[in-house]
Amino acid sequence: MSFKEETAARTAECESIISEFLPRREDFPYMERVIEAMNYSVLAGGKRLRPMFILETCRMYGGRVELAAPFMAALEMIHTYSLVHDDLPAMDNDLYRRGMLTTHARFGEGMAVLAGDGLLNLAYETAALAFDRARTPEETKAVIRALKVLSRNAGIYGMVGGQCADLTAEKHPERTDRETLLFIHRNKTSALIDSGFAIGAILAGAPEEDIKSLDKIAENTGVAFQIQDDILDVTGDSAVLGKQVGSDEKDGKVTWVTMYGLEKAAADVRALTEEALTLFDGLSAGNDFLRQLILSLVNRNS
Ligand code: IPE
Ligand code: IPE
Ligand code: MG
Ligand code: MG
Ligand code: MG
Repeated sequence: MSFKEETAARTAECESIISEFLPRREDFPYMERVIEAMNYSVLAGGKRLRPMFILETCRMYGGRVELAAPFMAALEMIHTYSLVHDDLPAMDNDLYRRGMLTTHARFGEGMAVLAGDGLLNLAYETAALAFDRARTPEETKAVIRALKVLSRNAGIYGMVGGQCADLTAEKHPERTDRETLLFIHRNKTSALIDSGFAIGAILAGAPEEDIKSLDKIAENTGVAFQIQDDILDVTGDSAVLGKQVGSDEKDGKVTWVTMYGLEKAAADVRALTEEALTLFDGLSAGNDFLRQLILSLVNRNS
């Protein structure tokens, strides 16, 4: 199988796991609309990278996918909620996402706020289902630890903190320097990617040293991923990206591209990724597909 075919197979595997944990709107009268909006946002597509990172790090250390599955769905729900709220007029004010109208453009702002809230809460409820799947006290302990990682990285010490700094920087571009931008990228983007790498490894009982290295690998991969996102916002094709280009310029954002230019930004994506891969090669286990996946993000166009 080619890497492209392998990626497509993994994406389908992630989608089918995520779908298992979504609510069915016909089961819940009076709340059909919010459930419709939640499912619309999650099922719109997307690369499913974060659940794929859980799946692949779990496999890499010989873990059980059944234990990881609720966390895969939970992390994609949290990621999707972050996108739904990120697109709101009060934040980035965008109309297209994953090739479709954004949730607020399709369902109205109130329903988009609720769909995000619904996804965030359902995420924790879903992740907690892993307790029922644990077979040993060690697995139960690993689920507790994974829940702590999931919640910390999503909140003020992670994604929400990064989005806060992102909004503040938009108001004060003159005060936005390299350190600020690194803080934003590490938190708004690396934090959820870290949940992907760390949770799969934790649930599979990976060595502590590896879990530490995976944090650094995720940090680099996330910063590189966000710099590439900033690049694609300038050079990308809306039809391929599934979201409109020029969003950052419209919002007056300071990005890696406005700070360093396209050429240096692309060089930084490569350097950060190379550093991540060197660390990856030093881990006590290997996963060729995951290695290739990290590398492929350097030249992604969507
Ligand atoms: C978009 O993430 C938000 C960023 C952190 C740049 P993705 O590019 O992974 O979005 P989907 O899930 O594929 O739609
Ligand atoms: C957002 O970064 C990251 C999130 C936590 C949602 P961007 O605002 O650059 O993401 P896009 O470009 O809208 O996907
Ligand atoms: Mg944003
Ligand atoms: Mg945005
Ligand atoms: Mg962007």
